[in-house]
Amino acid sequence: MKFIDLFAGIGGIKIGFENTGFESVFSNDFDANCKKTFDLNFSKHKEMHFEDITKIKVNDLPEFHILTGGFPCQPFSIAGYRQGFDDEDGRGNLFFDIIRILKKRKPKVFLLENVKNLKTHDKGNTLKVIYSELEKLGYKITDKVLNTMEYGNLPQNRERVYIVGFLDKSAFNEFKFPKKIPLTKTIHDCLEKKVDEKYYYNKKDLYLKLKDDVVKKDTVYQWRRKYVRENKNGVCPTLTANMGTGGHNVPIILDDKGIRKLTPRECSNFQGFPKNYKLPEIADSHLYKQFGNSVSIPVVERIAENIKKALEK
Ligand SMILES: C[S@@+](CC[C@H](N)C(=O)[O-])C[C@H]1O[C@@H](n2cnc3c(N)ncnc32)[C@H](O)[C@@H]1O
Repeated sequence: MKFIDLFAGIGGIKIGFENTGFESVFSNDFDANCKKTFDLNFSKHKEMHFEDITKIKVNDLPEFHILTGGFPCQPFSIAGYRQGFDDEDGRGNLFFDIIRILKKRKPKVFLLENVKNLKTHDKGNTLKVIYSELEKLGYKITDKVLNTMEYGNLPQNRERVYIVGFLDKSAFNEFKFPKKIPLTKTIHDCLEKKVDEKYYYNKKDLYLKLKDDVVKKDTVYQWRRKYVRENKNGVCPTLTANMGTGGHNVPIILDDKGIRKLTPRECSNFQGFPKNYKLPEIADSHLYKQFGNSVSIPVVERIAENIKKALEK
């Protein structure tokens, strides 16, 4: 079965679905740096279609059976149905591009991913509108918040809402979100042994503020502008799109050589990207953003497996 991946970023959802045996036929994003990372890894097969989704004509899309999309979460402020999903950037409308494509092509299944807050946004109205728009197209829909550390065997505290819809009622009835699995991986499974000097704070200004609090090697810390926050559950805090832009949000650890921030490769590991996933020569800030924006691949893969089972039955 063929799928298209909208808002594809660096292909996290794509990898999860491909690992399950689905065939990727189209990926789209309009971020030039994402395209660099994406194409470095996937161009042999198919380059990213680089275009604003609002400009894409549905007739130009290839044939597909599944639509996936981690649509942008930051500006997804829906002030209410009456205002028509508009926000200042107009980016709140992007959900309607998904609707536009679903309406014309009616794929069997879709998977949408977003931040957990989508469920409570605007007192739940946002999600209600999303449901009602999708139901109008004939889809049976379910959603669930899954935390990567509980459902993906990856030591990252990352709660995301996953919305799955089926056109076929009996396939929908067969579908279940994956069950919790034990967390056997520790942060040390995601940390690199040899790390470039530039990631260490040892001689930098922030060092003095960090050194009294960053004391354990089994813990990931965060600098919160004025104080150090310790993540007591022994996992990495949620990787975010804005870490790396102010310098203070990239999670921090202590290793044998001192106090340092996570490297982009380690962020890739905390999201479950394969070890051979290539990182292009672009500024670290772009890479941090890309992995913060992406998905935890094992969680997506487990959902994709259950979609496959439901369709097969
Ligand atoms: C939350 S990220 C999704 C990341 C992706 N799931 C992954 O695994 O890397 C949202 C993506 O939507 C893209 N985006 C935002 N507005 C867009 C638009 N109008 N057209 C195409 N892509 C857009 C952003 O560039 C960003 O990469």
